[in-house]
This record gives sequence, C-alpha cells and structure tokens, in this order.
Amino acid sequence: KEVIDAPILVIGSGYGGAVSALRLCEAGKKVVMLEMGLNWEKSGIPFSNMLKPGKSAAWLKKKTIAPFMNIFSLTPFTGTLDRMDFEHINIWVGRGVGGGSLVNGGMAVTPKESYFKEIFPDLDAEKFYNTYFPLVHKELKVNVIGEQFLKDCPYYQFTRVGEEEAHKAGFKTIRVPNVYDFQYMEKEYKNEVPRSAFNTEVIYGNNHGKNSLDKTYLKKALETGNLEILDLHCVENIKLNDDKTYTLNVQQTDTSGVVVSDKIFNCKKLILAAGTMGTLKLLLQSHAVTSLPIHEQIGKNWGNNGNFMTGRNWVKPLSGGTGAKQSTIPVGGIDNWDDKEHPFFTEIAPLPMGMDVATALYLLINRVDKKGEVSYDVNTKKLNLDWDQSNTAKMRENADYFIKKMNRANGGTRSHFLFNNGFGADVCYHPLGGCVLGKATNAYGKVNDHDNLYVLDGSLIPGTIGVNPFVTITAIAEYCIENLIRQNEFA
Ligand code: FDA
Repeated sequence: KEVIDAPILVIGSGYGGAVSALRLCEAGKKVVMLEMGLNWEKSGIPFSNMLKPGKSAAWLKKKTIAPFMNIFSLTPFTGTLDRMDFEHINIWVGRGVGGGSLVNGGMAVTPKESYFKEIFPDLDAEKFYNTYFPLVHKELKVNVIGEQFLKDCPYYQFTRVGEEEAHKAGFKTIRVPNVYDFQYMEKEYKNEVPRSAFNTEVIYGNNHGKNSLDKTYLKKALETGNLEILDLHCVENIKLNDDKTYTLNVQQTDTSGVVVSDKIFNCKKLILAAGTMGTLKLLLQSHAVTSLPIHEQIGKNWGNNGNFMTGRNWVKPLSGGTGAKQSTIPVGGIDNWDDKEHPFFTEIAPLPMGMDVATALYLLINRVDKKGEVSYDVNTKKLNLDWDQSNTAKMRENADYFIKKMNRANGGTRSHFLFNNGFGADVCYHPLGGCVLGKATNAYGKVNDHDNLYVLDGSLIPGTIGVNPFVTITAIAEYCIENLIRQNEFA
C-alpha cells in the first residue's frame, strides 16, 4: 500500500472543509484535502440538468434520486447528488469538490438573531452578526435579485404567484439572498451568455452562474499554493496512534466507483469536514473498527433542521399557474417564525418540469424540539438513525396549517401529485448535529478526548438553525478555525 505523510489533513471539501483549508493555507500551512467525490472542474465533464440527467445526476446509482420524478435510468457514475436512506427519512447530500455547494439551491440565509442566541447561548452573537456573517457573505459572494427583473421575468412567475398567494393568506414574505450571480442571470435571460438557472440546472450542478465553493473559498485556498486536493479519495476509517497522530485507510476509486488503489495517510492534525452524516459515519465506524475513542456526546442532538416538504396542486390553473418556465434558483420565502403556535419559515421552491404543472412546492423549516440520535450498527456496517414520526409531528401540524390557510385564501388542494398524502416528512436536505459545538467538542471544534482531532462542519450545529444552514456552517467554521489557529493548535 502506498503510504503518504501529511502534517494537516482535511476530510471533505464542503463549507467547513473549504473554510479550514483557506485559513490554514493563508497562515502558511500545507494542507492535504481528501474528497470522495469528483473534481468536476478539472474533469471537464459538464453537469447535467434536471430534464436530461446524465453523469452528474447521482452518486453511483442506476436511477435518478431527486425527491420526485425519478423516471430516468443512469449508468453508475460518481455523480454530484447522493441520498442516504433510513426507515423514516431520506437524506440528500452533495459529492464532489465543493461538497453540498455543487448541488444546493444557493439560498444564503442568515439565521434570526434571537434563534441563533437560543441555539448557541455560549457564542458571542454580536461578534457573529458584526463580523463572521458579513465576512461569509463577502467570501461566498452572496447577492440579491433585482426587484424589477423579478417582476418582469417569466421564469419567476412561481415566486410572484407564491408571494401574492401568501399575502392573500395573511403571511409575511421575505426576499432570499443567494450565491447565484444575479447579474449573470440577467444576461442569461437576454441570451448573452449560456443558460444555467434558466436551463433547469441545479441539483446535479450548475455549469454557470452559481458561486459554488470551487469558485470561492477553494479557489482562493488553491491560489496560496499550499493546498492539495485529492479527489475520488474516500476515507474508510481512522486510527489513533500511540503518539497521538492518526492513520487513515483510504480508497481511491475511478469514476465508476471501482477501487483503483488502497492508500494509507498519516497525519499529525486531522480535520473532519465530511458533512454531518459523513463525519458521524467516520467517527462511529472508526470507533467500531479501530477502537477510535469517541465521547458519549457523539451522535446525540441530531436533527433535520425541521425540513418538511409539502405542495399544492391546482394553483391558479386558469391564469398561467406557476409557469412552464422556471428558474431553479429560489428567491422568495414565507416567514412565519414569530407565530407562537405555528413557527416556520418556508422557501417558495421552484419545480422546473418544463411544463406548467400549476403546482407550488414548499420546503418548510421548523424548530426541532425532539432531537434524534445517530449510532453505528456493527452487523449491517451502516449508520442507524433514531428518528420517526414523533420527531416530525409538530412539523406536519405546521405544514397542514400552512397548506389549509393557503388553500382557503387562494383555492388549490394538498399535492398528492408530489407526495404520498401531500406531505414529504421524509425529505431532508439539511442534516445537522451529532457532534455539537461545546458538547462533543471544545468551544472551537476540537473533539473531546482527543489532542489532534477537529470537527468543522454541519455536525457542530445542534440539529436546527431555523433557516437554510450553509451561511451558519460557514460562519461557525470561520470562528472555530480563527480561534484554533490563534491558540497555536496547528503550530
Ligand atoms: P458538505 O456536505 O457540504 O461537504 C462534505 C464533503 O465531504 C462532501 O463533498 C463529501 O463527498 C465529502 N465526504 C464525506 N465523507 C467522506 C469520506 N469518507 N472521505 C472523503 N470525503 C468525504 N443549504 C443552504 O444553506 N441553502 C440552500 O439553498 C440549500 N439547498 C440544498 C439543496 C440540496 C439538494 C441539498 C442536498 C442541500 C442543500 N443545502 C442548502 C444544505 C447545504 O448544502 C449543506 O448544509 C452543506 O453543504 C453542509 O456543509 P458541510 O460543510 O457540513 O458538508
């Protein structure tokens, strides 16, 4: 087996990994990043759109795995979108250099300060709202759609209808910032540049327009000359050595998932940024396989960020519905968070099916009052998730309240077309928690019971943050790595 020594290793190239890599590289440290997915930019393979799913559509599957309309067969390839299926919930994640930023809708939402304080009582909220959130907005290139463009553009009929209907039902709406470049979008509308958001590109990757991490944090980190990214390198397990260094078993694969090389990596410092589910799998599996010590808090306080999908059919069918042409980039949301009985936020989501289906899709984000727990089953060699209908009961009640109120004011029915009985309680895009900041780690993400192991990704957030999470994940990673570097952890 090839043996590679690297002083600092980062596992995963999503938000947490990209932030850690940039700040360490800027501090003059050499960083090696291991990513199980493909480096799409380097490969030159284009991303496919939702109407013609191709190579990028799914992680080694024979059929597409979008939340609905999976009628397309595929040749297995290391695609960008993966789904982990549990008994009561399916969790979608991004794979590839850039992690979730390749497949997500780009919604860049700062959490409500009151909720942030409730979830992270020990963090200095003022510092986050004055320093880290603005920093993250700048680095991620967050911007907002022009109101006039939104008003005129046929691709945003679904947003205009969604907002109009919400107002009629007495709900408050908000404009949602995004990392998709809206100046580019205005040009693509005029056909001055190739189309991406208007060409049903998003959950299998965007060829243009979207400022995913490969265009922001990772690009900057590579420009320092201190970062090496090894794609198609999947970490199987981690072993703690007597001298407190780590040894990793790593499989390098080809794009059909076949192992081409077994490698061993040794490192002094290890940063886990494999995403909530990836990091938990590595910690829990390594505990079972190599006796990696893990703290009793690992796996606890897991949540789906209150994700609950629902939809309505027969939305304005006689006046153009939600539109045959739809941008894939959401820009509208309904903010019902301050309602004591039914607190939720919902994205007015696109459904770009290439025809007018007069259907409105919503991804609700609710509080998570009952948390779940992740563990590892040594027999099946898979993660177990303690999560069932009792965890989503209140979310379902909120969705029911929302749909009924919308239908009463505007007409329409609960969408049986999209989901069994109209509710997608099992759709999760935002797995969070399991390695909570200050519980399973110290105040800056250093894992309890370890000297040289850190977690910097969504698993630090205790299951809920009330809005789409990547802005918070990025800000927390900035805060943690700044303090870890200041404390000479990587000296
Ligand atoms: P992230 O998941 O981004 O990265 C982890 C990386 O580690 C992945 O690239 C993975 O391949 C790699 N990895 C895992 N295990 C590994 C191993 N063993 N070895 C090597 N590499 C490994 N959020 C938001 O704020 N706004 C939005 O609009 C959306 N929309 C959205 C849509 C869809 C379809 C999804 C699936 C998700 C979203 N999200 C979102 C959620 C958001 O993308 C998500 O919260 C972040 O990407 C999580 O960031 P992390 O840094 O935690 O890990």
